[in-house]
Amino acid sequence: MRLGVNIDHVATVRQARGGVEPDPFEAAQIVRAAGADGITVHIRMDRRHIQESDIARIRASELLPLNIEMATTDEMQQIARRHRPHKVTLVPEQPGEITTLGGLDCFRSPEAIRRFAELGRELGMDVAVFIDPDSRQIEQAASLGIREIEIHTGEYAKRWPDAARELAAIEEAALTAARLGMRVAAGHGLTVANVGPIVAVRPVEELNIGHHIVSRAIFVGLQAAIGEMMQAMAQGARGS
Ligand code: PXP
Repeated sequence: MRLGVNIDHVATVRQARGGVEPDPFEAAQIVRAAGADGITVHIRMDRRHIQESDIARIRASELLPLNIEMATTDEMQQIARRHRPHKVTLVPEQPGEITTLGGLDCFRSPEAIRRFAELGRELGMDVAVFIDPDSRQIEQAASLGIREIEIHTGEYAKRWPDAARELAAIEEAALTAARLGMRVAAGHGLTVANVGPIVAVRPVEELNIGHHIVSRAIFVGLQAAIGEMMQAMAQGARGS
């Protein structure tokens, strides 16, 4: 199971002062030193945390595979073209939202999704869609040329520890995607306490986790916070 560490909130703290620290690039170096598998950033349309200059530095360093979460706009296509990350993950974005509220509706903007799928093939870049655990949405994504999904675990996390129904929906969605030959990632709201059952969902190969890791990092440091998460993931994989 791969771990992509989302470092957006390192940039959130920097932006609070409008200065240069803490530096997301230094965070990316620590993510690598801690043994995680990838770096994830969300470049928002309002640029409230990660900036394009952060992406340029992280990408140029080739520290780890870079996954950029982005809305399905033309501006974001240009950013993908300029930086050619390993992967883009398409997310819905609404003005004023505190965080991503749910998966992308693949019936609402099929042409935009199809254009990203084509761009991915042109650039040799993976293109995933962040999606609710809903088989209809997953089948629609596949029909638009998408080969990877990231299942939205936000509802599961919100209901944890009484989340049997939400977990079953994630398992079913992951199996649907695997049957369609898609790669499966998952993320949103995951913590050391609730990550285990998600690790145990076999088709899931990657988790993208940010808020909990950066929150823990305030108290124990980023490297230790990533270590705690990797340990919780290893325990989840063993079913303990
Ligand atoms: N995956 C996606 C697509 C997201 O938008 C986010 C939040 O930026 C995450 C994963 C990480 O969620 P969290 O910060 O709750 O771990």
